[in-house]
Amino acid sequence: MRQAGRHLPEFRALKNEGYDFFTMCQIPELAVEVSLQPLRRYGVDAVIIFSDILVIPQAMGMVIQMVKGVGPVFTHPLDSPEDISKLGLDLHPNVEDTLGYVMDAINLARKEIQGQVPLIGFCGGPLSLLMFMVEGRSSKSLTKLKKWLYNYPNECHMLLQSLANICVEFLIAQQRAGAQALQVFESVGVEGLTQDQYHEFVLPYLSDIAERVKGACSDTPLIVFSKGTDYAYEKLAETKFDCLGVDFTSDPEDVRRRIAGSGKALQGNMDPCCIYADKERIENEVGKMLHRFGSNGGYIANFGHGCLPDMDPEHVDVFIKSVQRKSLDSFGASDH
Ligand code: CP3
Repeated sequence: MRQAGRHLPEFRALKNEGYDFFTMCQIPELAVEVSLQPLRRYGVDAVIIFSDILVIPQAMGMVIQMVKGVGPVFTHPLDSPEDISKLGLDLHPNVEDTLGYVMDAINLARKEIQGQVPLIGFCGGPLSLLMFMVEGRSSKSLTKLKKWLYNYPNECHMLLQSLANICVEFLIAQQRAGAQALQVFESVGVEGLTQDQYHEFVLPYLSDIAERVKGACSDTPLIVFSKGTDYAYEKLAETKFDCLGVDFTSDPEDVRRRIAGSGKALQGNMDPCCIYADKERIENEVGKMLHRFGSNGGYIANFGHGCLPDMDPEHVDVFIKSVQRKSLDSFGASDH
């Protein structure tokens, strides 16, 4: 998650050449260069394409700037449903025309990676995207999102379904362009919902995305990361996703028990801030994490959320090498 970003000096060096974040996403050579930085430095076991979840609202016509110290900011968020037509939002953008640059980057990345490791494509989940479209930026209180959910439920459903449709087309296009695994990040906004709201406004759309993407790309592993929604694992285990992301507040042993028999793999869930600890402590925490996820079911070792800008790459390297070494010790080279 944002593995390439911010904490890597080589990423910052490219940014300091004056490239704006979304321009970097749009120039395939630059996007591929950034995507490959963690592979070169750390020897990670997979590469995620450098892009952002917010390229979908951009494709619909919304204008977004990456503001230093703030993050992404929408110049005209949706205050009320009238804004959908006032701003001329395109609810059915042609994915190849508007997001073709992501597919071009994926295609080029596959050539550069030369089969060393798999390449992951991704998109944002509908609720996370709706949250940004109405709040205009990251929000702790989520008051605008909540106002929409309470006052304009029909319009929310309409927008969420449009977003889900775009997600489906976009993920399938990424797979056709060469992505070997796909991930949906439903990781902002959902943590502040009531369980009723989650079941009404999130789950049906995630389930629909999984159903249709797996229908078109049955052999491509599909991962969902629903953050801050521990109660949802049983329901997510009933969808067509192959792998469920686990954030750092959930207990992997408990999640395994609750989804037993579903055949779902799990991904997660190191507290990213463990990277601030000394190296020995990081290794111990990795040992605990691997033990908790166990070997009874598929598993992808990962952080339980993203890297932060002031993280020391040497410590991130300890995390990665320690996962790789300990998994070899436990499961042998053939399962690695
Ligand atoms: O690791 C990678 O570089 C892969 C590409 C990737 C990025 N963003 C690049 C990025 C991925 C998979 C994402 C996902 C993403 N983007 C999510 C879902 C995951 C999550 O963290 O919950 C979300 C919510 C976004 C939206 C977004 N993009 C925010 C809120 C921010 C800024 C604030 C923050 O916490 O970082 C970004 C910026 C961003 N996206 C950076 C990178 C490398 C940092 C850019 C920079 O600081 O120059």
